[in-house]
Amino acid sequence: METETRPDVDALLSAALSEVAAAVTVEELEAVRVRWLGRKDGRLTAVLRGLGSLPVEDRGPIGAAANRAKEALAEALEGRRGALAHPGDARPAIDLTLPGRRRWRGGPHPVTIVVDEICDIFRGLGFTRARGPEAETVWHNFEALNTPLDHPAADEHDTIYLGPRTVLRSHTSPVQIRTMQAYEPPVRIVVPGMCYRRDPFDASHAPAFEQIEGLAVDEGVTFVEFKWTLAEFARRFFGAGTRTRFRPSYFPFTEPSAEVDVTCMICDAAGCGACKGTGWIEIMGAGMVDPAVFEHVGYDAERYTGFAFGMGPARIAMLRYGIPDIRMFYDSDVRFLGQFAR
Ligand code: PHE
Repeated sequence: METETRPDVDALLSAALSEVAAAVTVEELEAVRVRWLGRKDGRLTAVLRGLGSLPVEDRGPIGAAANRAKEALAEALEGRRGALAHPGDARPAIDLTLPGRRRWRGGPHPVTIVVDEICDIFRGLGFTRARGPEAETVWHNFEALNTPLDHPAADEHDTIYLGPRTVLRSHTSPVQIRTMQAYEPPVRIVVPGMCYRRDPFDASHAPAFEQIEGLAVDEGVTFVEFKWTLAEFARRFFGAGTRTRFRPSYFPFTEPSAEVDVTCMICDAAGCGACKGTGWIEIMGAGMVDPAVFEHVGYDAERYTGFAFGMGPARIAMLRYGIPDIRMFYDSDVRFLGQFAR
């Protein structure tokens, strides 16, 4: 007599499920389905077909378990099929063909670019870079620069006072004084730095702004060296064809004083809005150091001569890049700043 062994439905199901999980292609998965649920000789199909040959009391529970197993397996097959057909649904979406995300790249501010370039040019002409404090004494900012406090030049600066004898420097010229106090000639320096004035914040003024000061003092420094140095700077910075003119002007600490113009780099001196039709653009104030300044720092005014200049690199950056409003330099808008990244 044949003894029917009771099928272990749970064991069959877990074997089937691990085959489902192991299938890595749709074809392999189909083979798993046929092996377990195939109509002809699927192993689970066979259990259901063979119910009739089980002892009567086993048919109900085993039949129910086999039906549940069949359903569970069909569901697992379905899920696995979906995962194999659309791998993106089952795993974090990574499309290796997508271009990478753009990363932020830092870069120097346009005014910093101009400052560095100007200082590099002067380095090539024998000047070193110097610094000085932004909080200054009234003496360094005005008096030692031959500017009495009741002089209109002291007024014009609209100086910001921190105390009765302390100001936020209104120009970089006090660094001339500090450098001459600290070093004997020869001195050839350029001094980039922030300056402060109670100016309105409008398209062409800012209450905090950059200047670059220059100072050359030595035996035998002449007006010719003064003019040549600044004209050569203009040629190196704005282009070899740039011409320069020196217009008489006044500063308390230079004598004679000049305002230095260059041929307009925007219209090539033809006359445009930037140069107000004149073909010339003013880029700095300058002059031969007034002997009275040498007296203040203890230099021998009989032995030494020198020249000095001061310019605003933000204004020069505006001219070079065609920027209409100085406030754009202060907005920290990356869409603006990103255009200057090197
Ligand atoms: N310090 C002057 C200013 O801020 C510019 C200047 C510097 C003029 C050096 C002559 C010499 O206006």
